[in-house]
Amino acid sequence: MNVGGKPYRTIWLNGDGWSVDIIDQTLLPHRFETVTLRNLSDAAHAIRSMQVRGAPLIGVTAAYGLCLALREDASDAGIDRACETLRNQPKDKLAGIAYRRAAEMADDDVAICKAIGGHGLRIIQALAAKKPAGHPVNILTHCNAGWLATVDWGTATAPIYAAHGQGIPLHVWVDETRPRNQGASLTAWELNGHGVPHTVIADNVGGHLMQHGQVDMCIVGTDRTTASGDVANKIGTYLKALAARDNGVPFYVGLPSPTIDWRIADGIREIPIEQRSGEELSQVTGRMSSGEIATVTITPEGSPVANYAFDVTPAALVTGLITERGVAKASREGLAALFPERAGRAG
Ligand code: MRU
Repeated sequence: MNVGGKPYRTIWLNGDGWSVDIIDQTLLPHRFETVTLRNLSDAAHAIRSMQVRGAPLIGVTAAYGLCLALREDASDAGIDRACETLRNQPKDKLAGIAYRRAAEMADDDVAICKAIGGHGLRIIQALAAKKPAGHPVNILTHCNAGWLATVDWGTATAPIYAAHGQGIPLHVWVDETRPRNQGASLTAWELNGHGVPHTVIADNVGGHLMQHGQVDMCIVGTDRTTASGDVANKIGTYLKALAARDNGVPFYVGLPSPTIDWRIADGIREIPIEQRSGEELSQVTGRMSSGEIATVTITPEGSPVANYAFDVTPAALVTGLITERGVAKASREGLAALFPERAGRAG
């Protein structure tokens, strides 16, 4: 996608052929800076500190982290264990093989997201056809499953960018997405940069908007999806799906097939939910009127906080899973029909 008119991916190999650049997402929307990853610990730090985030981008960053590690020590036993596919390759070829694989993963992700955009576009076109002329399709999204969370295009946002590119009038309700505010800081920044009409709302507003007919559809991303279509995504996704069901609003999930975990079926029981540092909740970072970026505490000293990072939306609340192969019903049968070779392999 574009930043200031210049095309960017979220991660790219530098001209030196080995170091890797990323966009530091912790500084957005206030500063746009890139960071160079030169070794495995740079890559690990980028993931841990959330300079990169979003399921697909984390995966590609990890793949490049492995490349950087192999450049330095191709004989490391731990790396061998982690990378079954690399095990039997000649040691002096490992780094090259890993770089090629990381680049393939990055390109695959871009192709997957573009395809999700094409399939989701048809859903938005159908909704637009039912609206009075000139009235925008109102889409609610949660967190950032945008191009910043992938290598390019995004998953939830790919249909939005595709529809916007086709001139379909649309408007996006952007959940702020506490505690880290990825909606307010990242999704809004992206949509702003691409001229997509949008409004940032507090996380609790969506249900009210749905009750008043101001949301035509929801689209969110997913970090992990079970073989039966349960969706783990940013905390608060489940509540949006409940409100959508209560109000007859279609609730779609942009789903790159690599995020389907064919080994599990019951998302609520089988997906462990990460609890992140309480400081993400008790503190807020933003730009002061002086222009300085500051972090302030918003809870009383001594009040305990709990910071659950993700939740699971049961398949029954999901209208459809927009995959790179088409829109699947959120069920074992729906996913298996689109991915028979994968569903079969998992048994
Ligand atoms: O904690 P984050 O910012 O990594 O959370 C991101 C999300 O929850 C996204 O919706 C998900 O990773 C899908 S990204 C295509």
